[in-house]
Amino acid sequence: MEQHILLGQTLGFCSNPLVADWQDSVVFDSAGGVLIDDGKIVATGSGAALRAAHPRARVTDYGDALITAGFVDAHMHYPQTGMIASWGKQLIDWLNTYTFPEEARFGDKAYADAVAGRTLDLALTYGTTTLTSFCTIHPASVDAFFEAAALRNMAVVAGKTCMDRNAPDNLRDTAQTAYDDSKAMLEKWHGVGRAQYAITPRFSPTSTPEQLAALGALWSEHPQCLMQTHLSEQKPEVAWVKDLFPQARDYLDTYEAHGLLGENGLYGHAIYLTPREIDRLSEIGAAVIHCPTSNTFIGSGLFDLMGLAKASVSIGLATDTGGGSSFSMLRTMAAAYEIGQLRGTALHPAQLMWLATEGSAQALKMSGQIGRLGAGAAADITVLDLGSTPVIRQRASRATDIWDALFPTIMMGDDRAVKDVWVAGRQVSRPTPA
Ligand code: GUN
Ligand code: ZN
Repeated sequence: MEQHILLGQTLGFCSNPLVADWQDSVVFDSAGGVLIDDGKIVATGSGAALRAAHPRARVTDYGDALITAGFVDAHMHYPQTGMIASWGKQLIDWLNTYTFPEEARFGDKAYADAVAGRTLDLALTYGTTTLTSFCTIHPASVDAFFEAAALRNMAVVAGKTCMDRNAPDNLRDTAQTAYDDSKAMLEKWHGVGRAQYAITPRFSPTSTPEQLAALGALWSEHPQCLMQTHLSEQKPEVAWVKDLFPQARDYLDTYEAHGLLGENGLYGHAIYLTPREIDRLSEIGAAVIHCPTSNTFIGSGLFDLMGLAKASVSIGLATDTGGGSSFSMLRTMAAAYEIGQLRGTALHPAQLMWLATEGSAQALKMSGQIGRLGAGAAADITVLDLGSTPVIRQRASRATDIWDALFPTIMMGDDRAVKDVWVAGRQVSRPTPA
């Protein structure tokens, strides 16, 4: 594959701006370049210097657009694409009214194929190059997602969602079939191309202790895999877990007691945590995933991002579609900012961009491979037009620095702000002619 240089304003990170000073964490160049070879980023730096050193490389000049690592969505549900933005319910009613009937359709492979392809294409139009998805209880839904991602050469994480109680008959497996089907899917897909399998109990209310234990056993046989689930999203859910698991010390303990707490664990939402749960998550090195548009849309609550960062808990950022109300990680960053404001912290644009790229990659234990505009990472790249609509343009035109120029796009941008996307070194949308 020939070498390619992208020119523009470039933004990367050298450390975590939630814990270090953001000024010390950013690597920004207003006339930067990214050298791509064989699907990977080989070098970043001054655009002029890269051109001089690699005179035969093809060049795409994005002018003053911002070149960043592609966005990494660390928690979403591709089977919920069709029912995103469904009105008027909170978590448990929302699951029963909208989610479960839609998920029941995914035993039909053709339907699953269509939604998986549509979801990945939608994500790309929003500049998201990695999705971490729950599938449904149907193995066909897992095949559909990984096949669609392989066609697009996207790095994805996904797993069969397991439920053996508190769900409709046609969406229930058993402890044994959850183990068997998950194992078969894991063996079929984990590490194939850019696919990563995640063992996926939906959440404690929809799994019996036997099912949680079976999945814990599977994880102990494949500890290199991720495990994804939900944790402490809404108060009635936390109370329900207490009723269902009277022996448990807290919600996290329902996972811990069944072998489902580990470094490679991803715990979505994590809003109502006790001090013990925070300490355990931090000690183990597990990640919590912040889903801000979902938390406001289904009325969950205000995630304590700064408190968890200070406690050294790894944090990823995610849309949680269809509980989340947008595919856009820009909109997701805006919602994280708004929730931060309601908790008394104004997150800096550098912190928001880090969460949407490197932070999510670290949560997925894929740091250095994705979510990074730096040598050695996959060339999964998003190019942002910082003046994509009239209102953004007029605000950005008076910007005093890159952050003042970028923040209007974070707050008001959508797919129109995504000028171009690269996946594993291949351009997936045509650049807008200059
Ligand atoms: N908790 C259990 N399942 C789900 C789901 O599909 N979406 C959200 N937001 N929370 C959940
Ligand atoms: Zn979710």
